[in-house]
Amino acid sequence: MPSADIHTDFLIIGGGIAGLRAAIGASRFGQVTILNKGLKGESSSKFAQGGIASALDEAPSEIQSHFEDTIIAGKGLCREAAVKVMVSEGPLRIQELLEWGVSFDKVGDDFLLTREGAHSKNRILRARGDATGNEIVKTLQRAIASNKNILTLNGHFTVQLLTAYPEPSRPICHGVVVLDEEKNILRRFFSKAVILATGGVGQIFQRTTNPPVATGDGIAMALKAGAELEDMEFYQFHPTALALPDAPSFLLSEAIRGEGGRLRNAEGKRFMDRYHPDAELAPRDLVSRAILGEIRQSNTDHVFLDVTHLNPHFVRERFPMIYATCLRYGIDMVSEKVPVAPSAHYMMGGIKTDLNGQTNVSGLFAVGEVASTGVHGANRLASNSLLEGLVFGARVGDALEKVSSSQSSSADLPLADSQTVFEQETLKWPEAYHAIQKSIKVFMWQNLGVIRNEQSIRRAIDAWQPWRDILKNPPLSRLAIETGNMLAASAVLIESALNRRESLGAHFREDFPDRNKDYPPQHSRMNQVLLGDHFSINF
Ligand code: SIN
Repeated sequence: MPSADIHTDFLIIGGGIAGLRAAIGASRFGQVTILNKGLKGESSSKFAQGGIASALDEAPSEIQSHFEDTIIAGKGLCREAAVKVMVSEGPLRIQELLEWGVSFDKVGDDFLLTREGAHSKNRILRARGDATGNEIVKTLQRAIASNKNILTLNGHFTVQLLTAYPEPSRPICHGVVVLDEEKNILRRFFSKAVILATGGVGQIFQRTTNPPVATGDGIAMALKAGAELEDMEFYQFHPTALALPDAPSFLLSEAIRGEGGRLRNAEGKRFMDRYHPDAELAPRDLVSRAILGEIRQSNTDHVFLDVTHLNPHFVRERFPMIYATCLRYGIDMVSEKVPVAPSAHYMMGGIKTDLNGQTNVSGLFAVGEVASTGVHGANRLASNSLLEGLVFGARVGDALEKVSSSQSSSADLPLADSQTVFEQETLKWPEAYHAIQKSIKVFMWQNLGVIRNEQSIRRAIDAWQPWRDILKNPPLSRLAIETGNMLAASAVLIESALNRRESLGAHFREDFPDRNKDYPPQHSRMNQVLLGDHFSINF
């Protein structure tokens, strides 16, 4: 190791809402270090538009109806205890945000509550119109900046979890290996607990609403460290992202449809009422499949989102960021229909945790999109993810009190055999890695997208094989290591999708279009061993 080891009490990997909230809680029990890749500390939370779904007070009927909507959306796969925790602790977390200075939109003294698909009522709080995630992240960052127990290090890309086996088959995570992006050196950080808050895997798909940092780092590192993953075949595709040849697939919030936006096909006709009684506000998986159906029939690559019938002043005020972004790409949405198509958006599965974020690896916690608490089941209810991040972030923070008294941060534990196997060479051929990433995005989008079948999944398995060796000893570069992480995350998704021979929620197999009714919906498991012959990799 070229640089001195660093010791802290708690390491938080990732600076989205879940990680920040966990850091604030953990800081009551010790020194916290937040490690962010990239110099700006990007996260998916920052880009969350729609809002945060929650009952506003603890009135049992409000909490019950949020619980029921979440369970119905999750298609029988939600872990009810986790949903109960989320909806009943939600009002407390919202209250706390208000005390810390988050300014949710109001009219007079009343919050402006909006609605999105599959919600039975208006319960979604929003800030600055369509910039809810950004408002919450900034507020949490302000709280952190004045907290002497929290150190944030940007440009520190975590590349590996350090694990030890004081007893056989009982791994302990006691630190991480980090690439200091500016100095291009590796450093080891040791801690009593590591909290993965690394977000999702959207970058493995050609079309995604996720920022470039969403390369599945947490999933890949957890897999290699022996953590248990679950429900990785359940990936949510958002129905309406911008579909223009030279524009990113920028999210057009479901709240637009909640405010009366309509979907129209190539002939300019509304079509959603042919697919579901809730029309544009049907569950996301259904809207995404309906859009693909219309696209196939019309031989185009998009449908349209139409708000031209709404008051132009309202549209500009309500969706300022979306309005400005569309305008930048040449579309004035108050007078023109916006071309849209589905795009990869949110990973429902992840690293399996208990109700306090604890994984099966001692000392390793997961929170936010990278975690699978079980609240989303087979299909996440819109705007539940910011709430999940806050509620479970707070619970992880609380759980660390116990860790802080029972565990020591030990650099002395013997490291597992396979630790720290990066070539100490810098990257010579970045173009090669860009090409591999492009290939992953294409084969995942074409074969593991909104609609899958056995043939398409097997095509993805074949397309993955040429890159197998890339996972071994990558050169010391963020690009190369992220590429390996994307490959590992893809492998997990592919294998999980192959194994589930039924359709449920967001996982739609056209060769098994119905749910297997022989037994109630089951969670799926995935780990290194279960990855099986297709992807057997010597990590
Ligand atoms: C949206 O604004 O449509 C996205 C919100 C979410 O994914 O929960």
